[in-house]
Amino acid sequence: MHAPDASLAARMSMYNGNALKIGLFGPNCSFGRAVTRVPERWSGSWADNLKLARMADDAGIDFLLPIGRWKGYGGDYDYQGETLETITWASGLLASTSRITVFGTVHAPLFNPVIAAKEMVTADHIGEGRFGLNIVVGWNEGEFEMFGVAQREHEARYDYAQEWIDAIKLMWSEREDFDFAGQFLKLKGVRAKPKPYGGTRPLIMNAGASPTGQAFAIKNCDAFFVRPSRVSLDETAARVAAVKSAARAHGHEIGVYTVGVITCKPTQQEAEAYYQHWSVELADWSAVDGILAIKNITPQTVPLAEFNLKRRQYTEGMGGLSIVGDPDRVAGQLADLSRAGLTGIAVSGVNYLEELPFLCAEVLPRLERMGVREKR
Ligand SMILES: Cc1cc2nc3c(=O)[nH]c(=O)nc-3n(C[C@H](O)[C@H](O)[C@H](O)COP(=O)(O)O)c2cc1C
Repeated sequence: MHAPDASLAARMSMYNGNALKIGLFGPNCSFGRAVTRVPERWSGSWADNLKLARMADDAGIDFLLPIGRWKGYGGDYDYQGETLETITWASGLLASTSRITVFGTVHAPLFNPVIAAKEMVTADHIGEGRFGLNIVVGWNEGEFEMFGVAQREHEARYDYAQEWIDAIKLMWSEREDFDFAGQFLKLKGVRAKPKPYGGTRPLIMNAGASPTGQAFAIKNCDAFFVRPSRVSLDETAARVAAVKSAARAHGHEIGVYTVGVITCKPTQQEAEAYYQHWSVELADWSAVDGILAIKNITPQTVPLAEFNLKRRQYTEGMGGLSIVGDPDRVAGQLADLSRAGLTGIAVSGVNYLEELPFLCAEVLPRLERMGVREKR
């Protein structure tokens, strides 16, 4: 499909009228986001990613969101040990699909902005306006050491990211050669052609959790990922409303997304049994403990009850809503998120390719009937 109108509003709508956008999160990494030893765990191979993207594109899934991960976590099974670089991954998938929006997840401190801007423009032309940027500042020390790049202290990471995104936006819009003289970036006589597809620019998202990260997203981005409340839907709705009004105060609209882990089976009982199986019985606890240690969450640093809770939560990747149920239950929970004002959700499971057909056959039609997704 040739995107007829690649305006920023059209890009933000992902070229459709679905009130609740649904995306797949993490398929560029082996295991995806499931820290599990089950034999059917996700390969992360290019062949499987290609099949998945085409299937998702045909089924009307709205977006694919990769994880920018450079170094696997080790452990007995090497969780996320194999990862495909996300801009090249997105380019390949955009060339092979026609509707779906595909993000690249880019670590600002690791990518020279001139190279990154051009790579992303290239992906955007390949996808005719369907490329999106997930800008991340990084948190994993070991990854940065591997590059020989020192992590800045937390606030300064976002100061750097601010210059980086300002420079990128200029390269995407400025017709004349320009100099960029920032605190960190000093670029001379910058010339960047072509511009993004359709004379606009790719969607930009961020998922900062800290106050600084959130402020960065609200100021600079078209989409922001919030943590769903584990307490109530009302609390989620209040968070969403606060982000939207803060973005309006900056003079722009923002889509508010969240993350979910879906285990959907024909019956509630089957779903709960499988969830217990992959996320508890066969969880890869060695990898979980490794991830927690990187984040300085150990029995020595936090109270034991909190440590055990985090340990349990991290088998499903880092954060997200567990959605476990039969198609009615899963569709109901997704529709509730839409009613709370969320624009969309990035979901994962155990094996994306094996699970997507059931989700598309059973959950998407229910969402259509509930009025949160367009009839197809
Ligand atoms: C949906 C989502 C996607 C993310 N993707 C990545 C990623 O691919 N690579 C990464 O290093 N961090 C990723 N993060 C982490 C965030 O960018 C951010 O660093 C983290 O939430 C901590 O927030 P802070 O930077 O404000 O402290 C992601 C977080 C979320 C919720």
